[in-house]
Amino acid sequence: MLTIPTGLEGIAETLGDVPAYVYDLPGLDRHAAAVRAATEGLELYYAVKANPDPALLRVLAEHVDGFEVSSGGEVEHIRALLPGMPLAFGGPGKTDAELALPVRRLHVESPAELRRLQASRRPADVLLRVNLDVPVGGAALAMGGGATPFGMDPDDVTECLKLIAHPVRAHGIHAHLASGLDAPDLLTLADAVLAYARSLNLGEINLGGGMAVSYTDPAHRFDWTSYAHGMRARRAPGEILRIEPGRALTAYSGWYLTKVLDVKRVHGEWFAILTGGTHHLRTPVTKGHNQPFVVISRSHSPDRELTLAGRLCTPKDVFARHVRAALAVGDVVAFAMAGAYAWNISHHDFLLHPKPAFHYLP
Ligand SMILES: Cc1ncc(COP(=O)(O)O)c(C=O)c1O
Repeated sequence: MLTIPTGLEGIAETLGDVPAYVYDLPGLDRHAAAVRAATEGLELYYAVKANPDPALLRVLAEHVDGFEVSSGGEVEHIRALLPGMPLAFGGPGKTDAELALPVRRLHVESPAELRRLQASRRPADVLLRVNLDVPVGGAALAMGGGATPFGMDPDDVTECLKLIAHPVRAHGIHAHLASGLDAPDLLTLADAVLAYARSLNLGEINLGGGMAVSYTDPAHRFDWTSYAHGMRARRAPGEILRIEPGRALTAYSGWYLTKVLDVKRVHGEWFAILTGGTHHLRTPVTKGHNQPFVVISRSHSPDRELTLAGRLCTPKDVFARHVRAALAVGDVVAFAMAGAYAWNISHHDFLLHPKPAFHYLP
């Protein structure tokens, strides 16, 4: 069951043909405060790639220790918006210009990247990103545990440790191995990463993000309390443990509102065609799920099984397939969980439809 935030229906009532994103800032504030309270004792960074919207970042900045960034663009964005915020800069490929950016921690992803950094003779405080050979089954996305472009083999970490020399300083290990795991699975992964880092006598460990959200059951939330309890119990004296969640922080704070343009039956199946599309909200296509939604309607249309489609010229432009809903032309569909990897990962210019409006619940 989805709970509509106060103010959303009012925006839906005035919605025209241009879809709108609505960000629930009070909801984000409450959620981030709860995550912060649960994770006391751990360093909490927010992965900006999940959603770099300035209003969301300002809310999150009150609750996190820093931001995880993955490009020069994200570094500049945060520097302009929230100067002085500690940054951890990762990502599988960095240009020389990006390696030169001043950040609190730089996540080095290969011996070749480290050599370029050393050659610049600039001081840098680094974590070495390892891709450990551990099972990541059950993850929605795997960045480690096998052959991927992310991080490096333990042998290459060993090589980096031999190469590192003044003015570059190695502080520890970074390991974002998978996204979409529940607390027990993330703790199992943490055990492997902690054992590895300790075998190298490295006491600063960034365990990445990847805390699961459920698009099929939005009420099912990541268990921050048991995860953080498990992490604190595992922490050795003097160790710094850092996490950098993205999706599980902001997903719930975004809504995407779009109107029904047409309802029709094709080859026996019902379709609702919406004013928006996956050029605004690509999340369901990339993840292969039905985006959860509520209908805001004054019509009394029959409840039927239908597919919610956008109006792009591609059969992939679908938000939800074979779902039950009572929909008529003019009704508003409010897609929930559109606050992470949503607008910012969508192909906005395909067909040159208008960009959505953005509203921020105060
Ligand atoms: C290095 C790194 N850290 C953190 C994250 C955030 O992951 P999530 O949004 O699943 O929490 C990602 C996502 O791809 C990542 O690549």
